[in-house]
Amino acid sequence: MANDLAGKRVAFLGAGKMGGIILQALLKNGLLTAKSTCATVAHEDRAKELAAKLKVKVGTSNSEAVKGADIIVIAVKPQVVEDVVREISSHITPKQVIVSVAASVPTAMIERDLPPNVPVIRAMPNTPCIMGAGMTAICKGKHASAYDVKMTCHLFDVVGRTVVVDEKHMDAVTALSASGPAYIYIILESLAEAGVKVGLPRDIATLLAAQTALGAAKVVLETGDHPALLKDAVTTPAGCTIDAIMELEEGKLRVTLIKAVVKAAQRAKELAFG
Ligand SMILES: NC(=O)c1ccc[n+]([C@@H]2O[C@H](COP(=O)([O-])OP(=O)(O)OC[C@H]3O[C@@H](n4cnc5c(N)ncnc54)[C@H](OP(=O)(O)O)[C@@H]3O)[C@@H](O)[C@H]2O)c1
Repeated sequence: MANDLAGKRVAFLGAGKMGGIILQALLKNGLLTAKSTCATVAHEDRAKELAAKLKVKVGTSNSEAVKGADIIVIAVKPQVVEDVVREISSHITPKQVIVSVAASVPTAMIERDLPPNVPVIRAMPNTPCIMGAGMTAICKGKHASAYDVKMTCHLFDVVGRTVVVDEKHMDAVTALSASGPAYIYIILESLAEAGVKVGLPRDIATLLAAQTALGAAKVVLETGDHPALLKDAVTTPAGCTIDAIMELEEGKLRVTLIKAVVKAAQRAKELAFG
């Protein structure tokens, strides 16, 4: 798959936070070149600023940007996707692949406004893509081939890990891994505050909290062990961890996290529709 993207021209429609992160990572890793890439934003001044920063062509016309592109990444807000798809539709052919990172917008909704048989893929990345530590779930629409899926995986492999799921899981993915960094930042902020409460300087407390989260995540990913088993290994009988766990249980940490993800998944179903 190494050369899947070689020679491909990619247009990013909506190079904001997420579109910008992926575009910059692909340029930095040499998977795309400035010549083979272009992008759009809504505002002229933003376009000029971004073009100067990334040294790629950035404009405000989506229909211009998609001409000659092999892959079109749609990274505008969910509520704007329909307008953008309608704007580009008459310039799209089934030889192009549309990759939407918009939360909530089903592939069928995008396909509906495109000419017949245009391959559409949905990808749900998260902001740690900026550090190459992202998590992206990918699903295919009706006309996308296995090759289109592989090529999209390859695109997002550059910014972290990828997993292919059925489209019915995309709102759950949005609630867990796309919104997830926000939950983890709150946990890290709270742990750092806790460190300050027990006397640590804030910078050291933040380092301890963040590196501990990174380490624990690494152990889960690399051993494949159940997190409950790994937790048991830290919890010495009559030690201090079990006292902390009792507080977490009393504060309903688990059920709160579960309910938070359930709420976000419900909201993810609505976003595209206002
Ligand atoms: N942020 C995340 O953590 C995250 C994670 C996964 C998926 N997503 C998805 O990524 C998409 C973008 O989110 P974001 O957080 O990156 O938002 P954002 O920073 O607001 O970016 C949206 C971009 O779209 C541009 N835009 C607006 N209307 C446009 C149009 N008609 N044509 C072309 N460009 C247009 C905006 O231009 P201006 O800059 O000129 O205003 C902006 O650059 C959303 O659909 C979201 O669901 C986001």
